[in-house]
Amino acid sequence: MKISVIGLGKLGTPLAVVLASKGHDVVGVDVNPDFVRLLASGKSPVEEPGIQKLIDENRGRISATADLEAAVLKTEVTFVIVPTPSDHQGGFSNKYVLSAVTAIGQALRKKRDYHVVNVTSTVMPGSTGGEIRRALETASGREVGATCGLCYNPEFVALGSVMRDMLYPDMILVGESDARAGGVLEEIYKTVCEKNPPVKRMNWMNAEITKISVNTYVTTRISYANMLSDICERLPGADVDVVTAALGADSRIGKKYLKGALGYGGPCFPRDNVAFSHLARTLGARPDLAEATDRLNRYQIERLAAAASRLLEGGSKVGILGLSYKPETAVIEESQGVALAARLSESRREVYVHDPMALSAAMAVLGDKVVPMRSAEECVKAVDVLVITTAWPQYAEIPAQVFARPQARLQILDCWRILSRERLAGVADLHFLGAAAPEPAGRQIRAVQSS
Ligand SMILES: NC(=O)c1ccc[n+]([C@@H]2O[C@H](COP(=O)([O-])OP(=O)(O)OC[C@H]3O[C@@H](n4cnc5c(N)ncnc54)[C@H](O)[C@@H]3O)[C@@H](O)[C@H]2O)c1
Repeated sequence: MKISVIGLGKLGTPLAVVLASKGHDVVGVDVNPDFVRLLASGKSPVEEPGIQKLIDENRGRISATADLEAAVLKTEVTFVIVPTPSDHQGGFSNKYVLSAVTAIGQALRKKRDYHVVNVTSTVMPGSTGGEIRRALETASGREVGATCGLCYNPEFVALGSVMRDMLYPDMILVGESDARAGGVLEEIYKTVCEKNPPVKRMNWMNAEITKISVNTYVTTRISYANMLSDICERLPGADVDVVTAALGADSRIGKKYLKGALGYGGPCFPRDNVAFSHLARTLGARPDLAEATDRLNRYQIERLAAAASRLLEGGSKVGILGLSYKPETAVIEESQGVALAARLSESRREVYVHDPMALSAAMAVLGDKVVPMRSAEECVKAVDVLVITTAWPQYAEIPAQVFARPQARLQILDCWRILSRERLAGVADLHFLGAAAPEPAGRQIRAVQSS
């Protein structure tokens, strides 16, 4: 199929590349000329594992242009994946979607063929059937459901595994104007997805509610696990990992997203509960659960900063390993590592930071408040207290002797429990968030909590 993708950002470029890898002819469009130039020359404008290889293998089926009209005219389906930033009330603004859809509609006036417009950007319930539909019909002079289709088809992907998540999704969600439009998307996804996932087809409103519900349900679990972790830390003998492993064995609960650790971050999760509670309030429904999830998430940085500060005991040097909001990405939005670095530097600590991918993005925000370190090993060696805030696999591989000190032992706060107590026994004092350290290996997390 011939497909145009409007917006070549963190989601749009991977989608364009995955579609091309499955035999579709794809033209990408962006208002950012650098992104267009890069993709047109066979280079990925965004970082994502596996993306450059897939571009190299499918160069003949991927093109890029700043000319949205030309892209729409030579394709049958257009995916819209532009930003939908949070507005001042907590909902999402559709301004970029409306601008793109209006331009698509104007282009559609110049062709006769049936065309499907597919909004992939996350939008608030009521948007697709409301202002997006109006913008498309007004600009195109066409009736949605007759000579063009309009779908809402959000992706459920995580940065760092976007390509894999697109190829192996749990389900495909399609909000459709009519059966023909939804059928076009279902056919595309049959060619894209590896394991024949269920395609949930429904009206726009249900799809919009489903998208925001998936994210807020997952974050509710994360906040639940973090609340449990906070409780476990305060009860001698308790270990959140032991508790959640048993909880997750109950088939009504399940294991995923039940690890008590740090607050959730990134460009999607934190804003979704805010939008969900805004939606509930606007409708006169109770927003309590979404608000509590968000409140608990904001509290996690207080908890982390307090635990790190207690270990610091005045004036000593602290290292932070992990600045991206999760492994395998350079994105630092709402990252706990960056937030912790900012807080500790404000309290006049010497803060040393490292991240395999996100160092330059983080330094642009943190400036000269912190010292960037070229390697994790250098960071470990420079400090008295080390906090592991992102579970990068390479941090688990740091040799035990790197942590060793001739005098006062290195204090490590391992928020994701990636280091092995056995390996570091007698070398450093390892503290886990959510659990007491075993006797007699150094100070316990109880001491961190209660000093
Ligand atoms: N990144 C994620 O993990 C993720 C996951 C699920 C949903 N989403 C949703 O997908 C949407 C896009 O997110 P993203 O992370 O890819 O954003 P992004 O900011 O990385 O990329 C958006 C791109 O759209 C371009 N753009 C803006 N207006 C345009 C226009 N009129 N024409 C052409 N290009 C235009 C921008 O220049 C930018 O390159 C958002 O609604 C987001 O909520 C993102």
